[in-house]
Amino acid sequence: MKLGVCYYPEQWPESLWEQDAAEMVAAGIEWVRIGEFAWSRYEPEAGEYDWDWLKRSLDILGNAGLKVVLGTPTATPPKWLVDENPDMIAVDEDGKPRSFGSRRHYCFSSAAYLVECARIVTEMAKEFGDHPAVAGWQTDNEYGCHDTIISYSEAARDAFRIWCHQQYNGDIQALNEAWGNVFWSMEYRDFNEIERPNLTVTESNPAHKLDFWRFSSDQVVVYNKLQVDILRKYAPGRDLIHNYMGNFTDFNHHDVAADLDIASWDSYPLGFLDQSRASDAEKQQWMRTGHPDFAAFHHDLYRGVGKGRWWVMEQQPGPVNWAPHNPAPLDGMVRFWTWEAFAHGAEVVSYFRWRQAPFAQEQMHSGLKRPDNSVDIGLLEATQTAGEVQSLTAQAGSENTGIDASHILKEVAFIFDYESDWSLRVQPQGNNYHPLDWAMSMYTACRQAGVNVDILPPNANLDGYAAIVVANQQLEHAELLASLKNTSAQVILGPRTFSKTQQYQIPANLAPGSLQQLILLRVVRVESLADFWSDTVRHSVSKEQSLTVSKWREFVETDLSPSYQSADGWGFAYQHNNIHYINGCADQHSLNELIQQVLESNEHLKINPCAGGLRQQKVGKWQFFFNYGPEDQSLPNQRQTVLGGHHLAQGQLAIVQIDT
Ligand code: GAL
Repeated sequence: MKLGVCYYPEQWPESLWEQDAAEMVAAGIEWVRIGEFAWSRYEPEAGEYDWDWLKRSLDILGNAGLKVVLGTPTATPPKWLVDENPDMIAVDEDGKPRSFGSRRHYCFSSAAYLVECARIVTEMAKEFGDHPAVAGWQTDNEYGCHDTIISYSEAARDAFRIWCHQQYNGDIQALNEAWGNVFWSMEYRDFNEIERPNLTVTESNPAHKLDFWRFSSDQVVVYNKLQVDILRKYAPGRDLIHNYMGNFTDFNHHDVAADLDIASWDSYPLGFLDQSRASDAEKQQWMRTGHPDFAAFHHDLYRGVGKGRWWVMEQQPGPVNWAPHNPAPLDGMVRFWTWEAFAHGAEVVSYFRWRQAPFAQEQMHSGLKRPDNSVDIGLLEATQTAGEVQSLTAQAGSENTGIDASHILKEVAFIFDYESDWSLRVQPQGNNYHPLDWAMSMYTACRQAGVNVDILPPNANLDGYAAIVVANQQLEHAELLASLKNTSAQVILGPRTFSKTQQYQIPANLAPGSLQQLILLRVVRVESLADFWSDTVRHSVSKEQSLTVSKWREFVETDLSPSYQSADGWGFAYQHNNIHYINGCADQHSLNELIQQVLESNEHLKINPCAGGLRQQKVGKWQFFFNYGPEDQSLPNQRQTVLGGHHLAQGQLAIVQIDT
């Protein structure tokens, strides 16, 4: 449980550097991330390097006792480099090139740019690989930020042709068949004829799009690995990290993470809420706290991505600048968010940024300090949190607090598959069907039941979980099928599960494809429904119990009896032994009830439903309670708290010891 901060020495007079470092230490900060956007200062002219200032900065930080994560600057190629390599520019879906003048203007498929990246990373790593202050490296910055994973450049087209050639073993007929190219005479005769799936007259072929997405994701892996190999060589023993984003699934994070040591993400709870599709009423309710499950969803996701080792690299410190509206957090939220990340196993929570910049794009983004160097609220709360961590650690004595990822109680496994997220977005079959929103609703339902959740990829080992929730697995997956066959956990399958093959075709036996081995039903028709439509379904036995379904319904053929039925005879929610299939989208309240009923039926799981905005997490011998509000909440029992009281107002938290 360490604190960190993102810092830009190149943006401030050198006369401030010593004082900055001393103040960070005084606040209880131990980690500093620097350097990820400073290419124009590392190499002002092609091949002319200036490392002296960075060395002075690292020495100051190191001498103050701080540990540094040094970022490679490849998210911000400078002007001279772009002018020398005009083909390195990414191209958007409308065929427009991305201009110089902000960041992330490069294309992952540009061979020339990869050479430049390798060069700057090598120079930097040779220079600072063994610097004693540099304990970790961050590769690039936020892959995909500003919608930059998929590029439709000529370089991407050429690389895609090679990728397809490998994927289909050089057999163009195999590709034609997999994509169904007989449809509309889309057949190719040669891999060199393959086009990019943009600028077509109407929708391009979904299988083509899905493969282009897979290819684009693989390009990120290659790009990241190039840097990783250099850093492993010249900076041995240092942890390698990337900072992923919230609400962002455009590449397979597990594939990138396989080459790194730690996963981290950038947590901006208020910015993400304001940007989201939540209703105005919900936005109003959570505008100063963030949605109660949004940060936690990502904590649980990135813990899985990092195989246990994860950080918050950038934590919102106050108002941001990039959402449609940028409210200030409730006082206390910076501390609250920090503790919540620790409760989910974060090793480090690092604030963005030390001091608010008075210039350029992010001048309205707050920091721990204001542009005039006065202290902002975030710094007071970070300091308070550092003190609390210290006293909790002191109380635990020689015995560790046990608040870390390895001690998080295993209860529910939640399967999240990046490729299925893409396949659902490629052809949503209803423009209000947003797969990530749906996954988050299913996650909310688990959290509302008061259980811990691990978000895992479909090939994960699922042993030891009492329940397995499969929210969005549209693509059939052999390893997941095998795990589900071998489990006695309660399995909850969301709508559209296994409704496509890996090649993006309808399974020969219809949905849910090979899962029919576990639950005998066949989806014979689906319908997507506009927001004005919703339907009430009643429990088949206790008729007064009802749920609301909207957006999506599946009609099934089966001998099983549905748990619920609508007035027009449509059956909803089927069960066979431990397998539950939810054949439609229930609204949040209904989903909470439905999932709670299933979790409750498992004798090994102690559910502990949360009232209102109260949330909890069990780690080792501790139970954390977080009240997102708006109503005050009392803890469900009177055990002694080690932090906070029994009565929690909005934005307050408590930690109690669990009886063992
Ligand atoms: C992140 C990014 C930072 C900064 C921050 C502002 O997306 O990594 O560089 O732009 O947002 O909130």
